[in-house]
Amino acid sequence: MMTQDEMKRSAAREAVNYLSEGDIVGVGTGSTADYFIQELSSWGGASGAIASSEITASRLRDCGIPVLSLNDADSFGVYVDGADEINRNLEMIKGGGGALTREKIVAAVAEKFICIADETKVVDVLGAFPLPLEVIPMAGAYVSREVQKIGGEPTLRQGFLTDNGNVIIDIHGLTIDKAVELELELNGIVGAVTNGIFARRSADLLVYGTKNGVRTEYADPK
Ligand code: 5RP
Repeated sequence: MMTQDEMKRSAAREAVNYLSEGDIVGVGTGSTADYFIQELSSWGGASGAIASSEITASRLRDCGIPVLSLNDADSFGVYVDGADEINRNLEMIKGGGGALTREKIVAAVAEKFICIADETKVVDVLGAFPLPLEVIPMAGAYVSREVQKIGGEPTLRQGFLTDNGNVIIDIHGLTIDKAVELELELNGIVGAVTNGIFARRSADLLVYGTKNGVRTEYADPK
């Protein structure tokens, strides 16, 4: 029986098949992305990488993969990252590892977003996983009150600061059936930096490990 980690690794391995020699590759954050870094390193074909967090940058450098600044890359082909939840429209909740803002920035620049996951991440409706919201520290209490007004239960992630020096509020109790609308609404709260809904820029391709092997799903044309 395949473990969850083996399913993550198999998805990461498969994602390398979508790359071309000499590509600059955007690289996400988390345990599935870590497997992808190992596979990228074994493959050896990337000319460089754009990192979505300090920890990913350091793992890439440890593997000898040059880390480029996003400001020096007008565009690049593929961003590969995990997710905490992904639905059939390939909309996601991300940010379990707290790297959501940089992940969203790198994803915005990439031409194609490939989500790598294991089958436990695939859901019908987003929201069982608490939705991360990166917040400027002085706005924490205000943003929490605004989140309660839209029906969420905010919890401050204890002892955690993002790479940008901000806090994370995890929002429990949401059933997200209109992901784009909620993403925009949360972005509109003053003091909120980014929320973990990736719906305006959803994934283009989902590669996920199952107990019976790797499966792929493409987003419906918009
Ligand atoms: C980090 C993320 C990760 O992609 C997400 O938390 C999934 O992590 P893992 O691959 O460890 O299950 O969004 O901010």
